[in-house]
Amino acid sequence: MNLTIALAKGRLLPEAVKLLARAGVLPAEDLAKTRQLVVDATDGAKLLILKDPDVPVYVERGVADLGIVGVDHIRESGCDVLEPLDLALGRCRLSLCAPGPKERPLEALPGRALRVATKYPALATKLLATKGLGIEVLRLQGSVELAPVVGLADAIVDLVETGRTLAENGLTERERLLDVSGRLIANRASWRLKMPAVQALIAAFGDPS
Ligand code: PRP
Repeated sequence: MNLTIALAKGRLLPEAVKLLARAGVLPAEDLAKTRQLVVDATDGAKLLILKDPDVPVYVERGVADLGIVGVDHIRESGCDVLEPLDLALGRCRLSLCAPGPKERPLEALPGRALRVATKYPALATKLLATKGLGIEVLRLQGSVELAPVVGLADAIVDLVETGRTLAENGLTERERLLDVSGRLIANRASWRLKMPAVQALIAAFGDPS
């Protein structure tokens, strides 16, 4: 097979490993336990274990032929990669959320724009641009729900899966901005040059048997 596949080591990893196993790609190490960042797999494949936002970068630059990562990170990266398959892994949504009940208007403090905390500054700016809100985006690395609770921001743009993190922090979902799921991405050159191997993998991913 001779493919290098970049995997996001966040929530998607266990599901990605199951999917790869279905395609006969079995890692030589337990990916949940190893600290190795390059792991050999059956059939000559290599797996790169990366932070989620880095997966599109490795694939765009051709260091990896393929990647498995959420569409949130693909869009935030702005990387030029092919997206041949929605793997429907880790389905959730990217939403604008704020403290208080759903019907409460979004309000900034007087004299300043609505301050929105997010791990996705580029994507949030783009998705909110059409909403007619004057916004200031504040980039955070995680636990974004804390920002409006302690007055660092007026609202957040973040992933919502079960809604539990929002509920436990007194926030509500005000607007669903993007449906998110794990996608297979491909380097443009690899797509052409390694077509048989890539197609075989895609066929195996799509086959539930
Ligand atoms: C994600 C996301 C939310 C939470 C949503 O965070 O950013 O915080 O999960 O899930 P829920 O709707 O099921 O509660 P993650 O656990 O990946 O951590 P992070 O916020 O530190 O990035």
